[in-house]
Amino acid sequence: MPTITLNDQTFDVPAEMTILQVCQQKGIEIPHFCYHPKLSIAGNCRMCLVEIATIPKPVASCAMPVSENMVIYTNSPMVEKARQGVLEFLLINHPLDCPICDQGGECDLQDLAVNYGPSHSRFDLNKRVVTDKYMGPLIKTVMTRCIHCTRCIRFADEIAGVSELVALGRGETMEISNALDTAIQSELSGNMIDICPVGALTDKPYAFKGRPWEWHKTDSIDIMDALGSAIQIDSRNREVVRIQPRLHESLNEEWLSDRSRFSYDGLKYQRLDQPYLRSQGKLQPCSWEAAFEAIRYRLESLQGHEIAALAGDLADCEAMLALKKLWQNLGSAHLDCRQDGLHLPFKERCHYIMNTTVAGLEQADCVLLIGTHPRHEAPLVNARLRKAYLRNHTSFGLIGPHLELTYPYEHIGEHPHDLLKIVKGQHPFSQTLASARKPAVILGQAVFNHQDTAALLSGVQTLLDQYPFIQKGWNGYNVLHTAAARVGGLDIGFVPSAGGYATQQILKSCQTGEIKAIYLLGADEIPMADLGECFVIYQGHHGDAAAQRADVILPGCAYTEKTATYVNTEGRAQRSQQAVSPPGQAKEDWKIITALSYSLKRHLESLGKQPLSYLTVQDAQEDLSTTHFAFQNLGFVSVSPWTPLPKVESLTFSQESFVLPLDNFYMANTINRHSPTMAACVQEIIQGRRPGKSV
Ligand code: SF4
Ligand code: SF4
Ligand code: FES
Repeated sequence: MPTITLNDQTFDVPAEMTILQVCQQKGIEIPHFCYHPKLSIAGNCRMCLVEIATIPKPVASCAMPVSENMVIYTNSPMVEKARQGVLEFLLINHPLDCPICDQGGECDLQDLAVNYGPSHSRFDLNKRVVTDKYMGPLIKTVMTRCIHCTRCIRFADEIAGVSELVALGRGETMEISNALDTAIQSELSGNMIDICPVGALTDKPYAFKGRPWEWHKTDSIDIMDALGSAIQIDSRNREVVRIQPRLHESLNEEWLSDRSRFSYDGLKYQRLDQPYLRSQGKLQPCSWEAAFEAIRYRLESLQGHEIAALAGDLADCEAMLALKKLWQNLGSAHLDCRQDGLHLPFKERCHYIMNTTVAGLEQADCVLLIGTHPRHEAPLVNARLRKAYLRNHTSFGLIGPHLELTYPYEHIGEHPHDLLKIVKGQHPFSQTLASARKPAVILGQAVFNHQDTAALLSGVQTLLDQYPFIQKGWNGYNVLHTAAARVGGLDIGFVPSAGGYATQQILKSCQTGEIKAIYLLGADEIPMADLGECFVIYQGHHGDAAAQRADVILPGCAYTEKTATYVNTEGRAQRSQQAVSPPGQAKEDWKIITALSYSLKRHLESLGKQPLSYLTVQDAQEDLSTTHFAFQNLGFVSVSPWTPLPKVESLTFSQESFVLPLDNFYMANTINRHSPTMAACVQEIIQGRRPGKSV
């Protein structure tokens, strides 16, 4: 541990740190542009200059490691003059754009120019002009504002794993460019907007909406995938104007996927803002009382085994618990939160969560991916895997369709039976697993939508027995979910109880007429034709396919409009916060179900039951915390003790291929499907159709 003197104070500091890192740790501000703690060091902006007693010139502190007896000054006249010089040079060519620049108010260059810059410039030259680049529907470029810090290039190379940006030319002619002049092909491209310290790369859908100090800011969580990233929702009145990531080192670090960041405009369109009732074949607006009365009339004539309920991918835990209790009180055992009909094991929690945790994946030295496309299903899990590859040289094997991932992998085979190659030690990847210290396996949803799920899980258990996947302090068995509601639904037990049907059986029974009424809690992804003549109650926030099919529609809240609990793929329970009020008469989902239970009071009493007793969301949340330990430990992952997976007698597989759950990254749920920005992404990024340009 070297001893250094920093601004006349003496410290012992770790040898591997740079001067800038030590200063940040000690609370001393060092202005900088190109340095970013998650990226490699470029040392090209020179804004972080400090004085070292034995060196006659100022030194870039981001690139200089500390050493024994170093004497550093961060506020000497030499440093102040150097900083003024750097800013004066940067501003020679910088446009005077602040009033019309979307970065205004959150611009590092503005802030540093005010705090450290000269009061006037000695240069009176024509400013250089740089042509703007096309980067797709998400990133707006004004490249004359670029200060060549290269953060965007390093982010693309190192974190996103797509080498799409380059620096062309040198000196004054240098330009940052996407070499192919096409939309950036990355699910994480929006993060370049955040890390660009100036207004060269800004948020295209957010352009000219306003200034950051105008927004009401709400800390919440994302539900566009099963990661539950920490987000900040910026809103004005009832409108969400922007979503940005919040720092959460164990989850999303400081990044956010494009689907999570940009699909908020889907919250504005096709919203259900009042109850509807089907009358003479057409959905007609109605009062809450009329909607409840229609449901009561129908349910009173049915037995418990004639009604069923399915929860969708965005349903919150409070609503699922309320619906589960109401339906069970009505005598129904037909409940399922797996609307896609997955054969997810739900008896042992360790069998359906990511036991290694997202941050823990960084430690894995060998990862076997089965039936998953992490880049689409959870881009930030994929970013962790890339980090593991860069830092640990982690080896990857894949069983499933060939994929374009951001790290090299060994393609073991396309079909489930290719797992046998590893189980029997016939594939070279078995040797890689044998030499691994901390191997991990990640099972995607394609493992569970397959007819061979039982054999696959049995084969995986054989691998867990053969290699050190499960050891003291390490559990390498992971399930990667795609739905934000799934783990919470399984934790609550929103699954068939004794004698109850799972999704596929429920849908079959709807067709045969055995089930006569079904409650769809945001369940939009089921084949609506399979509902037959069933009486359909739909509770949700968008007029999607299920709403078109419904007989009664109850308008609920989207995730930005309610305080609600979700459990992520690691089993971490987290709570969203209300940022805006819901449209029209839409209500929180637990509230709707509680109110419905009161309108069914007479029927419930005839069955010896009572309506739900929740008066506030806190009542529902207290009840939630009694159902599962995960809800008592909000924000944290509780370790689930390992129980081996059930084994089958012989590992025989069909010829059926894996079917990945997401064929389109930008269209995963009802909010995405109503987002014009996501539609533009499909058109410009996936289909390569650039607006205003013939293909
Ligand atoms: Fe002003 Fe910053 Fe925009 Fe430059 S990048 S015009 S300094 S707000
Ligand atoms: Fe830096 Fe932004 Fe220029 Fe990229 S575009 S080099 S992030 S200033
Ligand atoms: Fe050190 Fe840019 S931050 S040179």
